[in-house]
Amino acid sequence: MCGIVGYIGQKQAAPILLDGLAKLEYRGYDSAGIATLNDGKIDVAKAKGRLAVLSELTDEGKNVPGTVGIGHTRWATHGEPSDINSHPHVSMDGRFSVVHNGIIENYISLKEKLISKGFEFKSETDTEVIAHLFEYYYNGDIIDAMIKVINRVEGSYAIGVLCADYPDQFVAVRKASPMIIGLGEGENFIASDVTAILNHTRNIYYLEDNEIVILKSDGVKVYNTDKEEVEKEVFTVNWDVSAAEKGGYEHFMMKEIEEQPKALRDTISPRIKDGRIVLDDISLTAADIKAIKKIFIVACGSAYHVGVVGKYAIEKMCRIPVEVQVASEFRYCDPIVGKNDLVIVISQSGETADTLAALKEAKSKGARILSIVNVVGSAIANASDDVIYTWAGPEIAVATTKAYSTQLAVMYLISLYMADKLGMVTSGQYKKLIEQIEALPDQVAEIIKQKDKVQYLASLFFNSQSIFFIGRNLDYAVSLEGSLKLKEISYIHSEAYAAGELKHGTISLIESGTLVVALATGRELFDKTVSNVKEVKARGAVVIGLTTESQTYMSEVADHVITVPDTDEMLLPSLSVVPLQLFGYYVASLKGCDIDKPRNLAKSVTVE
Ligand code: AGP
Repeated sequence: MCGIVGYIGQKQAAPILLDGLAKLEYRGYDSAGIATLNDGKIDVAKAKGRLAVLSELTDEGKNVPGTVGIGHTRWATHGEPSDINSHPHVSMDGRFSVVHNGIIENYISLKEKLISKGFEFKSETDTEVIAHLFEYYYNGDIIDAMIKVINRVEGSYAIGVLCADYPDQFVAVRKASPMIIGLGEGENFIASDVTAILNHTRNIYYLEDNEIVILKSDGVKVYNTDKEEVEKEVFTVNWDVSAAEKGGYEHFMMKEIEEQPKALRDTISPRIKDGRIVLDDISLTAADIKAIKKIFIVACGSAYHVGVVGKYAIEKMCRIPVEVQVASEFRYCDPIVGKNDLVIVISQSGETADTLAALKEAKSKGARILSIVNVVGSAIANASDDVIYTWAGPEIAVATTKAYSTQLAVMYLISLYMADKLGMVTSGQYKKLIEQIEALPDQVAEIIKQKDKVQYLASLFFNSQSIFFIGRNLDYAVSLEGSLKLKEISYIHSEAYAAGELKHGTISLIESGTLVVALATGRELFDKTVSNVKEVKARGAVVIGLTTESQTYMSEVADHVITVPDTDEMLLPSLSVVPLQLFGYYVASLKGCDIDKPRNLAKSVTVE
C-alpha cells in the first residue's frame, strides 16, 4: 500500500521525507516522489522504481530545498507504475501539490467534469483529480477548498497538500486510509504509520475521518468540516525505535517469528489476573454473551485463518454457531446478520479495506462489532464497539507471523471468557486452560529453538513445484496458514486441503515426489489423518508429518516428522503454525526471494 510522509519545521524537508519513506518501504510500492515548498515555489521530484532512484535523482534530497514538504511511495492502483503516475501530483496552475493513499471511486466523473472546465490531465491516476479540484475550488482559503474537495470526492483517502500561497504550513485529511500526525519540537509531521517518524517524535494524534489538519512548525490545528476547531488527545507511542528496525536480523520476518514468545506474553499476561481472564477492553456483559444468537468472524488472509481456528474454538467451548467468512465475500453477500449477532473482525493493520467495509456492513444491520487489531487507533479499531488489541508491536514483514499468533491467543481468551460466562466450563477445566494458555510463549520459544531442523527440511524441498498442506479440524485451519506463508514469500504453488476431502478429486494431483505436509496434532482425528498420509504415500507422495511429541506413530508412516509440545487441543494451532512459518521462510530464503517485501503484495491492502 502507498506510504505518505509530510514535514514542516526548521530543517530541510527532503532528507527527512526520504528517510520517512524508507521506513514505509515495507508497505510495498513501485514508485516514489517528494515535493517541497521553497520561496513560494513548489519543487517536485518523482520516479518509478525504488527509493534509491529518487534519492539519486535528488542527490539525497539536496536539490529539492525547503523546510516544508510531502512525500509518497506509490503502490499502483489506477495507472501503471511510471514517473508521470507517481505522486506528488500538481495542479495546472502549479499552486497545489498532492500526495494520496486510497482510491477516489468517482474520479472518472470528476475527471470528465474538470476536463470540460478546461483542465488538462497528465497522468492516468485518480489522485490527479484531487490536485485539480483544489485549484477549481480554491478562493484564497485552503480550509474552504479542502472542505469542498472532500465533500466532492467519494472513496478512501489520506491526503497531504502543499499550497504555494501558504509557505508556513501544509494541510492533510484522511478517510478510511491510515494517517497519523506527529507532534515534534518546532516541527510536525504526517505519516501513514508511526514507523516513519519514530526517530523524530513519539507524540501523535490519531485522526477521525474527515478531520482537517493544518500543520505549522510551531503547532497543529484540527478542524471538522464545519470549520470548527477540534480538540485532540495526544497519544505517546511506546514502541521503541528498534522494534521497527531489523535489529541485526537479515529479514524482519525472522525477527518477528522470534519475537512471538514476547508478543504472546505481552498480549496474554495483561489479560490474566489471579488465574482469571480479565477483558477490561470490552463491554460485553454476561447477559450480552448469553443473548448472542450467532457469531460471525470476518477477516482477510491470515487473519481469516485465525477466524477458522476461532470457529472451532468458540463452537467447541461455547456451543454458539459461528460463521467465518472472508471479508471481501461477506461485504457483498447481503449477510443475514442482526442485533443479536456478534461480529468478530480481525485485522493486523486495522486498515484493510475489505475488512473495514465488512465491518460497516455488519454494523449497518445492527450487529455488535468486536475487533482484534494490532494497530492502535486504526480505522477498524475506531469503528468497532469493542476492540481487543494484540500487543505484537509493529509488524513490518508483509507475511504476518507474530500478529497471527497473538490474534490466535486473543481468540482463545475470548472463547474461554465467553464459555465461562455461559457456564460451559468447569472451574477445573478453566484453571487448566489458563495454565496452558500461559505456557504458550515458552512452548513457542522451544519450537523456535528447533528451527535448524525445519531449515534442513526446507533444503530438501525448496525446488518443489507444488506443495500440499493437509489436516482435519484445527489442523486444517492451520494448514491454510502454512500454505499461505509458503505461497506468499516463496512463490511456490501450494494448496491447503481438508485431509478427508482429498479423495474427492484433488488426490489425482498427487504423483511421485509430490510433497505433502500432513498436520496431525489433534488426538481424536490422528488415526484418520494417518490414513490420509498412507493414501498419498501410496501414490508416490513424500510426507512431512507435523504432530505432537506424544504421537510417535507418525514416524512410522511419514518420511519426515516435526513435533510440537503437547497441550490442549484447542491451543495446538499456536504451536503447529510456528514450524510452518519457519518452513515458508527458509524455502523462500533458499530461493533468494524478497522475503520481507514479496512481489505484488503489500502489508496493508487498503484498496478493494
Ligand atoms: C498474511 O501474511 C498477508 N500479509 C495477508 O494475508 C494479510 O493477513 C491480510 O491482507 C489481512 O491483513 P490485516 O490483518 O492487516 O487486515
